[in-house]
Amino acid sequence: MTSPMTVPEPGLPMTVPEPGLPTRVRIHEVGARDGLQNEKSTVPTEVKAEFVRRLAEAGLTTIEATSFVHPKWVPQLADAEQLFPQVSDLAVDLPVLVPNERGLDRALALGATRVAVFASATESFAKANLNRTLDEALAMFEPVVGRAKAEGVHVRGYLSMCFGDPWEGAVPVPQVVRVCRALLDMGCDELSLGDTIGVATPGHVRALLTELDVPVEKVGVHFHDTYGQALANTYAALQHGVTTVDASAGGLGGCPYAKSATGNLATEDLVWMLQGLGIDTGVDLGRLVATSAWMAEHLGRPSPSRTVRALSHQE
Ligand code: HMG
Ligand code: MG
Repeated sequence: MTSPMTVPEPGLPMTVPEPGLPTRVRIHEVGARDGLQNEKSTVPTEVKAEFVRRLAEAGLTTIEATSFVHPKWVPQLADAEQLFPQVSDLAVDLPVLVPNERGLDRALALGATRVAVFASATESFAKANLNRTLDEALAMFEPVVGRAKAEGVHVRGYLSMCFGDPWEGAVPVPQVVRVCRALLDMGCDELSLGDTIGVATPGHVRALLTELDVPVEKVGVHFHDTYGQALANTYAALQHGVTTVDASAGGLGGCPYAKSATGNLATEDLVWMLQGLGIDTGVDLGRLVATSAWMAEHLGRPSPSRTVRALSHQE
């Protein structure tokens, strides 16, 4: 039987569904946090707020807004207290990063209802990113997750370096599974499996998801496009049944504490593929491209997203 196809509108792919894939995907948009934390220049708070508003208008429903981390560690997001109230009236989920109880206090004081802790699968990155050993970092998160859950706050547990680490090389799957289990055991509602330096390939993704053996509703994937594998890896995760995919508008970002981390999977590239597969995201691709083109202009350089370039004729 041939698949049902629809003729595309201009600026959209032809829709050709594939059997065995989810019908809907929730995009966890990280551009305002993971993207902007890595910019050399600090984006003015009002521009960040406008960015978040435009992302919501484009149909994104989960928009990571900022981080309540130490301002000296990530100066680009030092305005979290000023930014969050400017966007908190939006009818979307606005998760924020909190590394410790101090961060949680700051987020709760502003009424955040979704927070994320961020662990590492490797010792080297735990040290570089959190100034802690891996187990010390987990011990730091435990009271954060406990208190957040007691307050009815949704908690995401990020896990960086799930596939490779710039200092340690390949990361064994059982090592990743151990930290995932620790995050779930302390009460995290969902995990985000990060390929922080973009070295994963689809078979590796499948191997980790199989070995992890956690209900797919609790798992999100977070790919970087360093070696051009982010969409292939996403496709492997979709085949496994994963329905939460992290992406960054315009492909912004990397990680300030991992030199070899380049851009995140661009939300527009993801939406193009999902739309082509007939997978619903609720996102208006044209509005999203316009938002990323606007942000690229603000940052003074073209977006690395292939889809943004193709549809906005950026040079
Ligand atoms: P530390 O220096 O070990 O901090 O940093 P400390 O616990 O020793 O405290 C020192 C001082 O910092 C104290 O002040 C604290 O109050 C203050 P003092 O008593 O000296 O005056 N402090 C804070 N102030 C404001 N907000 C806070 C806070 N915490 C302590 N939350 C710490 C430890 C965890 C704070 C630091 O390492 C940190 O902030 N790290 C954040 C790094 C970061 O944000 N990295 C990027 C996010 S991870 C990522 O991007 C990867 C991801 O996207 C997935 C992927 O791509 O793979 C998630
Ligand atoms: Mg990232």
